[in-house]
Amino acid sequence: MQRENFGSRFGAIMAMAGSAIGLGNMWRFPYLVGEYGGAAFIFIYILFSFLLSLPILYCEFIIGRRSQKNAFGAFKELAPGTKWKWVGALSVIAPVIITSYYCVIGGWSVEYFFRSCTFSFTSNSDGMDLTNMFGSFISSTWAPLFGHTLFLLLTAVVVGKGIKGGIEKFGKVMMPVLFIVVILIAVRSMTLSGASEGISYLFKPDFSKIDGKVCAAALGQSFFSLSLGCGTMLTYASYVSRKENIASSGASTAVADLCFAMIAGCAIMPAVFAFGLSPQSGPGLVFETLPLIFSQMPAGGIVAILFFLALLIAAVTSSISMFEVGVAYCVEERGMSRKWACVTIFMITWVLGILCSLSFGPLSDVKLFGNTIFNFFDKLSANYLMTIGSLLVVLFVGWKMKKADVEDEFTNGGTFPANRRLFKVLWLIIRWIAPLAILVIFLSNLIGL
Ligand code: PHE
Repeated sequence: MQRENFGSRFGAIMAMAGSAIGLGNMWRFPYLVGEYGGAAFIFIYILFSFLLSLPILYCEFIIGRRSQKNAFGAFKELAPGTKWKWVGALSVIAPVIITSYYCVIGGWSVEYFFRSCTFSFTSNSDGMDLTNMFGSFISSTWAPLFGHTLFLLLTAVVVGKGIKGGIEKFGKVMMPVLFIVVILIAVRSMTLSGASEGISYLFKPDFSKIDGKVCAAALGQSFFSLSLGCGTMLTYASYVSRKENIASSGASTAVADLCFAMIAGCAIMPAVFAFGLSPQSGPGLVFETLPLIFSQMPAGGIVAILFFLALLIAAVTSSISMFEVGVAYCVEERGMSRKWACVTIFMITWVLGILCSLSFGPLSDVKLFGNTIFNFFDKLSANYLMTIGSLLVVLFVGWKMKKADVEDEFTNGGTFPANRRLFKVLWLIIRWIAPLAILVIFLSNLIGL
């Protein structure tokens, strides 16, 4: 059977940027910046993104495009008869786990988008109420499940339409809209009086704040934001044409992701400071603090609609990419039709997602290793699965694949001279720097340094 590919370079980049840009940029990044001290965290984050994450992204591109297979099949194809296929298995299981809890937050965005459309933040200016609103919403049983189901259905429908007609088309239309909307919000936020304090919080680093914890958080966030270590980019790369320059597609994806995170930061932090609120409110920043701001800001009702629309688009394009990993596996390794593969992955992630959602309310007493189900899934994926997955991917490319094959794939058989020059540095990073750096940061975080 002929495998489907992305139809154009722009489409492929939009799909990959769509995967990278998501709740990680709009929800996780801003609250981590708040928790870990602002610009110093951003500085380390940028450093890691280009020094470690981009090379790992290239490794995933190399494995995916060379094998032209799903995440499990790719390792079987490139290292037949070896234990590396278990890395493939991990790469299929990880995104299923991530999708399960990611779609719960996606469901919250659905709900908040609906609420913003009925102007429920602006018509209700009682600050206390808005803060309680989030807590009582996520701990309720049915409302979050409704949003979650809707969000997951949307994801499944787009993936069900295939690579070109579903994923690529959706990304090509939605990603430019997303950028425009977030830029508009950033302009609004940065022109509020008192916004300058928020801007310096983002751009003036205090290097004394950097420690092991900040580094581990920045590395985890950088992997999460570039969708690394869980088969996603690998699977997308397997749909990229052999003629494409993967060095430039990868760099475009990473730059788009970083720019978007910064724009999202500029949309949120200046407003938080302008209204004298704390940037350190953790995961509730976007769902608790922002509605409060929208309720007081001039034109806040419209800004709220735009913001939650953007959050929703960003989240869907990412969940689509995770969903596709499992679907590609079911189609290519289990011989299912695309439709049945979508139904299967939907059912698995839906049931796990229900457990995650209920863990804020009725199931809040159920603890896995001391965490609620949602927190367990979140920590398991961001702190362990993605880091270990990324480590195994660089080790595979650097130590298992033949150097000549890696170079051949990265330079398209030597036809891109600039890539040949870049490869010398890349090879050093892939073989030595990245594995050692990941290991050191991972272990130091594990033993609590
Ligand atoms: N990169 C996405 C984000 O920033 C999350 C993601 C993780 C997507 C893993 C796919 C795979 O929100």
